This record gives sequence, C-alpha cells and structure tokens, in this order.
Amino acid sequence: MEAPINDNYVSGAPSDQLAIDLFRTSWISQIPRPGLEAGTVPLFEDARIDWLVQHRGGFDGQSVLELGPLEGGHTYMLEKAGAASILGIEANTLAYMKCLIAKEIMGTRNSRFLLGDFDDYLDQTTERFDFLLASGVLYHMVDPIRTLTNMARVTDEMFIWSHFFDDRAMPEGDPRRALFTGETIVRERDGKSLTYRLRGYGDSTVYSSFIGGISPGSVWLEKGETIAFLESHGFAVTPSFEHDDHPHGPAACLYARR
Ligand SMILES: C[S@@+](CC[C@H](N)C(=O)[O-])C[C@H]1O[C@@H](n2cnc3c(N)ncnc32)[C@H](O)[C@@H]1O
Repeated sequence: MEAPINDNYVSGAPSDQLAIDLFRTSWISQIPRPGLEAGTVPLFEDARIDWLVQHRGGFDGQSVLELGPLEGGHTYMLEKAGAASILGIEANTLAYMKCLIAKEIMGTRNSRFLLGDFDDYLDQTTERFDFLLASGVLYHMVDPIRTLTNMARVTDEMFIWSHFFDDRAMPEGDPRRALFTGETIVRERDGKSLTYRLRGYGDSTVYSSFIGGISPGSVWLEKGETIAFLESHGFAVTPSFEHDDHPHGPAACLYARR
C-alpha cells in the first residue's frame, strides 16, 4: 500500500507565489511584484504613507515602532523611505506569518516582527523610538487611553489612522452606528479624559479574515478629544485624510509631533 503524501509539502520549483499560496485566500494586500497574485488593497503603495514620507522629508536613519502591521505593507514603505529599523508588533497569528512571507518576498532587511499584544509591549518597554506608526489600530482597543499614554511615552512623533465616533457625521439612525452598544464611559488618566463609545464586532470575529482587536469588542474615541489628549502631552497635531463618509465610520489621519 502506498503511503499518503504529507500535507505539509509542496511540489514544483520554489517561488514567491508558492509562499503566498500558503495563505492564498486570506491576503488583503496587493504585493507589488509583477505576476504575483495576493490581495487587492494597495497597502504596499498607500497614499497615506506617501503623504507622511513627503510631509516629514523621508525616514533616513530613523527607528520606528509599528503597531499592528497586518501584512507588512506600511513596514515595507517606511523601510523603502530610509528607516534604519522598524519593529512591528502583530497579535494575529495569520497576519504575523504573512508579515514574514512578505518580508522575504520584498527583501526588506531592516524590519523585525514580533508576535504578541502591543499594549503589553508598550506597558513594559523602556525603549524609545524616533517614530511610531499606529494605523488602523486605535479603534480596535478596549482601553485606548492606555495605548495613547504609552505611545506618548515612547516617542515624540507619531502617525495615526483611525475611525472616530462623531455624532454629527454619524447621527442616530446611521447604519454605521449599528454595532455600538449605546454605552458611553469617560476614562481619565493624568487629569485628562477621553469618552469611550463601546462597540461590538458582530459575528465578524468568527471568520479567519477578521483583522480587528484581541477582545470581543472595542472602543471608539472622538477625534477632537483625541487631538486634545495628544496636545495635552505636548504634541502639535496635524489632521489629514479626513473622511466622514468612510463606509465603516468617520476616519482621519493624525500626524503628531512635539
Ligand atoms: C485594521 S488592521 C490595520 C492594519 C494596518 N496597520 C493598516 O493600517 O492597514 C489592525 C491590525 O492590528 C492588529 N492588532 C489589533 N490589536 C492588536 C494588539 N493589541 N496587538 C497587536 N496587534 C494588534 C490586527 O491583528 C491587525 O493586523
């Protein structure tokens, strides 16, 4: 009787596509290499990161901490812009593996990815970074005042992209409010306060395509309060890419520097 072929093996000549195909249906990012098929979202050629690189005049020699790199697209862009070191911390095991595959395919050498919760990392680290990237993560936190306070401790310059709660842009009856529980909590730290709007994930957490936070729900902040919080920590804040009509909820980038 012939033994079955072991599932852990591939056949055929080695190729980048074979590595991508390990997680074939789960890729979100388009990989900018001719002939490769992964996802469709241009996260390796993201206009927000292009704006950032242009705004601060590149990243030559800079040390960067990136929260939630997903598949390493922004990591790649910052390395291409000259960053000397980028540490990306990712809690989703599938995303973490894809970061490693993308790193191998794109040939990036100055980035390193760690698997784990960046909030726990931030609580404990004594490291400081020239720059911190927090794209797509703040609205997935359950205690964002903890995250923001730590972010302000480890760096003097950061770029945030996030959804924000906004009663004017997203009034009662707006379908984008459907997952909010209606609960509101005011959290204070160091004499500063932030309003938390509690939101569930619906059934999205059961799918392997889920790329949210590590808890069953999350909290959205208000943009104005978030800016005021950063200003109270000595940052000058420049909003950009403000997008009230974003299909998932009002969104904006905040570039902050002190
Ligand atoms: C919506 S995606 C944003 C990905 C990417 N930064 C971007 O802007 O396109 C959120 C990412 O953060 C990761 N993430 C969420 N909470 C995290 C946590 N506490 N620690 C580490 N990674 C986390 C998710 O797994 C996911 O990869």
